[in-house]
Amino acid sequence: MKKVVLAYSGGLDTSCIIPWLKDKGYETIAFIADLGQGDDFKAIEKRALQSGAAQIVRLNLEKELIEDYAFKALKAGAAYENKYYLACALSRPLIARHQVEIAKKEKAAALVHGCTGKGNDQVRFETVYLTMAPKMEIIAPVRVWEFKTRDQEIDYLQSKGITIHVTKKSPYSIDNNIYGRAIECGVLEDPWCEPPEEIYALTTDPAKAPDKPTYVEITFEKGLPKKVDGKTYTPVNLVKHLNQVAGRNGVGRVDMVENRLVGIKSREIYENPAGEVLHMALRELETLVLDRDSMRFKQILSQKYAELTYNGLWFTPLKEQMDAFFNKVHEHSTGTVRLKLFKGGCRVVGRQSKYSRYREKMATYGEGDQFDQSLAEGFNHLWAMPFMK
Ligand code: ARG
Repeated sequence: MKKVVLAYSGGLDTSCIIPWLKDKGYETIAFIADLGQGDDFKAIEKRALQSGAAQIVRLNLEKELIEDYAFKALKAGAAYENKYYLACALSRPLIARHQVEIAKKEKAAALVHGCTGKGNDQVRFETVYLTMAPKMEIIAPVRVWEFKTRDQEIDYLQSKGITIHVTKKSPYSIDNNIYGRAIECGVLEDPWCEPPEEIYALTTDPAKAPDKPTYVEITFEKGLPKKVDGKTYTPVNLVKHLNQVAGRNGVGRVDMVENRLVGIKSREIYENPAGEVLHMALRELETLVLDRDSMRFKQILSQKYAELTYNGLWFTPLKEQMDAFFNKVHEHSTGTVRLKLFKGGCRVVGRQSKYSRYREKMATYGEGDQFDQSLAEGFNHLWAMPFMK
């Protein structure tokens, strides 16, 4: 039998894929990526075996997700359509890259994913597959198979003598990792419908959040967050800590209608407590340490970087070139930002850096003003010159 490597989540679809592939003459290596989604991985492994997987490979990729993906996107200031910090989009190239590595090592014939034909994720997976292993076959069962409903999938598994414990279908489709959570489908498909409180898992209802604000101080070195409230954290632990602190205050909810790569619009809810706080803090630090042109130019590139990430173009020359640019931009992004978290809101209330370009002596309207106002008259004339009648 030919071997394939499947990106296995433990859900009904990817479980069904395993016997479906067997019918077609393939044996499956189930690749389980631990991205900090908090699942019961022992149970997921068991389910893969019950579904007939020949082998299991499980990797903890949290550290890589945060350090090599999320924090790069943070330095880039990447927010897709100004709102989405890309937690799901960032995880796909990471999963796909490891999947290809396993497939090469195991001399597998094909790469398999459980995505539908309507989403972004199929594009993200397959773009990486095709970039890194252009000759390997790609199988996307969910796009082509005969099952139309969950019940049909369950019946099919039963016909194969496979009984796996499937949890009652939630009306929502949820993607989850340490950097954030995405929720869609069900009542959310009506863009007018306010998201019911039940969909949230990382953030407290702002109305029920603490009645007193929480202050956090985030210290960056060259654009990377290193400390919270003076205490040093590893990147993974820093994100976990901020998810808790911000989440408890109801911070990090996003409700948006986004433009998918495949042409349709979709309504998605995100929870991204750490991401929101970190992006806001770093953006603020930049206002102190960057000159005007660098800041403005960076913003233009941020949008492009978000689009590349969203569109599955992570392992591309342009994205790498942009990382080099953002590393240079952040040479002086060292300092601390103070934020106030309160009932769903996150506001910056202070910032400091040894590289600050803010000059109080120039800005002040009080004592000790060093701004030479006699320069202004000539400057204003030259400024207006092109438009003078
Ligand atoms: N729309 C997001 C993206 O394309 C998330 C996709 C997965 N969302 C979900 N709820 N299953 O990155």
